[in-house]
Amino acid sequence: MRVGVLVSGYGSNLQALLDAAAAGAPYTVAVVIANVAGAPALERARRAGVSAHLVEHRGRPRREFEEELLRLLREARVDLVCLAGFLRILSPWFVSHFRGRILNIHPALLPAFGGRGMYGLRVHEAVLASGAAQSGCTVHLVDETVDGGPILARATVPVLPGDTPETLAARVAQAEHRLYPQVVRAIAAGRLLPGLAASPAGG
Ligand code: GRF
Repeated sequence: MRVGVLVSGYGSNLQALLDAAAAGAPYTVAVVIANVAGAPALERARRAGVSAHLVEHRGRPRREFEEELLRLLREARVDLVCLAGFLRILSPWFVSHFRGRILNIHPALLPAFGGRGMYGLRVHEAVLASGAAQSGCTVHLVDETVDGGPILARATVPVLPGDTPETLAARVAQAEHRLYPQVVRAIAAGRLLPGLAASPAGG
């Protein structure tokens, strides 16, 4: 199964996906695309020998930006698109071309603590403010909603006394780095979303 990864920043989840592929998971990261110049994620891709592209969204129509994403993903013949810290909301037009084939990872237990504006430390601040005893991460399919697509898997971590948004974020990140490759591996092996790995690349 060929995977395309969309990133905007640091790329630790991308790294986890690359590491699992290198360790023999039944998928290949075929292309990495960033929308932010200088994103460390691009360097991680290059270090792993994966084709890495910068497609900037600034100063151009959204459709043109998404057409370029789509063209690169098609050229790389990807079966599955993984958002890994990709800080753009994809339009229904883009989603329609890869329906049921786009995954996202979110640093909280959806459906709680998701939606527009819920990213980065804000998520962990909200979890701590709520007094929740647990947090975690969620891998879900991307649809036209923000963080609202069907949930595929979640992993939980405890919220500990004295946690700050930063300490909680670090604990959740460790869980993310285990969960995302597990889910992609399960899809590639046909154990989750059966048929997806075997069917032709999204049109
Ligand atoms: C992760 O917390 C992920 O859940 C969220 O964005 C963050 C990306 O971190 N969608 P990284 O760039 O993978 O290190």
